[in-house]
Amino acid sequence: MPLFIGVDIGGTKVLATAVSSTGRVLRTATRTTPGRRVEARLVEDALTEAVQEIAGVRRVGAIGIAAAGFVDAQGERVRFAPHLPWRDEGVRARLAERWSAPVVLDNDANCAARAELTYGAVGDAGSAVMVTLGTGIGGALILDGEVLRGYNGMAGEFGHTQVVPGGRSCECGGTGCWEQYCSGNALTRFVRDQGIADLAGPAITAAAEAGDQVALAAFDEVGSWLGVGVANLVASFDPEIVVIGGGLSAAGDLLLEPARRALRESLVGAEHRTVPPVVRAALGPEAGAIGAADLARQRFRSAGTRA
Ligand code: BGC
Ligand code: NA
Ligand code: ZN
Repeated sequence: MPLFIGVDIGGTKVLATAVSSTGRVLRTATRTTPGRRVEARLVEDALTEAVQEIAGVRRVGAIGIAAAGFVDAQGERVRFAPHLPWRDEGVRARLAERWSAPVVLDNDANCAARAELTYGAVGDAGSAVMVTLGTGIGGALILDGEVLRGYNGMAGEFGHTQVVPGGRSCECGGTGCWEQYCSGNALTRFVRDQGIADLAGPAITAAAEAGDQVALAAFDEVGSWLGVGVANLVASFDPEIVVIGGGLSAAGDLLLEPARRALRESLVGAEHRTVPPVVRAALGPEAGAIGAADLARQRFRSAGTRA
């Protein structure tokens, strides 16, 4: 049986996985993302290392890439990526050649939504909004069992909707983007602004779970921003369910409770409608990689080449 591999490339981390035909993660390999001001080649080297660690000497059916950026409608190019060095580059063909394997490419949050739809939290819901919280905010909209693509292939870039005019500057070049107030980076910044040392997301979660007031306030702040943004998405799309994924979703109710509260407070006509449940991604932070592997498997089921 050939291996189907999914590799998620975010602003902080590369996660490669071998995924079974039932969506189970068989093996993982991780690398640190080299940064966004480096040569694109370095990011591709990190991807290659992680993929090679997973593939070993096994026959590879196909590899799916879940990229934290704007992927064109054809799934060929990364047009733009706020947290990565790719600027209009033919990533799919280049890596297919480098890896001597079939490669498919999609946006990371779209891949996560696909995985949650097939194996996870979306279940039978006919429509869903997915929000992934990591370095930035990823987004996807599921309608009638499909991830909405948009004219350019760029639908679902919720993270760069402006929530504070003239607000914090964003890696995308804009100001006041939602992801500047609601993401792993925003959580870290909040804690740092309180004069506490630079703590990464998992450490802040652990501190909040232990009752630390600053960490709890950080989750309240980021969670409230999550609810406000979700309210805008619910007002726009009226989905049946809202699924929250990405690294930060590991914090569970610490994040989701303030979000649910802010959603009820901010949503137009909240007393006159069914407010959708806001649930954690069933596949957690691995959803993107699982969805990418699934996309690769669907496209190249019958293929089988050596990596
Ligand atoms: C990017 C998206 C990506 C998200 C999560 C955002 O800053 O614009 O394309 O899905 O981060 O990685
Ligand atoms: Na997306
Ligand atoms: Zn932005």
